[in-house]
Amino acid sequence: MNTTVRLLALFLAAGISQMASAEEIDNLTAVYNEDGKYFTEDDVPTYNVQEDGTIDWPTYSGFRRYHSECHVCHGPEGEGSSYAPALKASAIDMDYYDFVDVVVNGRTRVGAAENSVMPSFGNNPNVMCYLDDIYVYLKARGAEVVPRGRPRKKEPKHDAIREAENACLGS
Ligand code: HEC
Repeated sequence: MNTTVRLLALFLAAGISQMASAEEIDNLTAVYNEDGKYFTEDDVPTYNVQEDGTIDWPTYSGFRRYHSECHVCHGPEGEGSSYAPALKASAIDMDYYDFVDVVVNGRTRVGAAENSVMPSFGNNPNVMCYLDDIYVYLKARGAEVVPRGRPRKKEPKHDAIREAENACLGS
């Protein structure tokens, strides 16, 4: 390569990498799997749906946990209610760490008509031990990759997930 061509190639490469960093971060696509859990390239938990519709275990678990702890306020399937926002949209729009922060610490918005209160779940093991599951389920709902209702085909529960749950719940 002569010097001019090499310089040109360098300029091009620099331009392309700048374009890539300006692009929006992919917060949905799973790029790796660890012990039955899936993560984005930024190590944020995410769902995984196989071609035949089989979903990862955490998304399935999240469906169950969401409907026992969150749906009374946030509506079935993360669709929202007159009282609380549609979490299937929040899970896509919010940063993962902000999402976790609101659930752990709660949030109160003092409005004109009435206060809007998201309780703190930081001391509730039935939420804390399954928070990533709830989060990935809601992301899958927001991305419309899982239909409404109880997911049918799911991956088996990985031993590591079972062990982590038992440790978290102290059982
Ligand atoms: C008692 C009712 C109630 C329950 C139960 C509840 N929430 Fe909320 N949540 C709210 C309200 C009300 C808000 C809006 C708070 C505000 O206006 O700041 C909210 C807000 C949130 C937000 C912020 C959404 C956004 O777009 O800003 C997240 C995330 C959230 N809740 C997650 C959860 C999860 C996960 C659960 C189940 C573990 C849950 N909530 C259970 C009432 C509830």
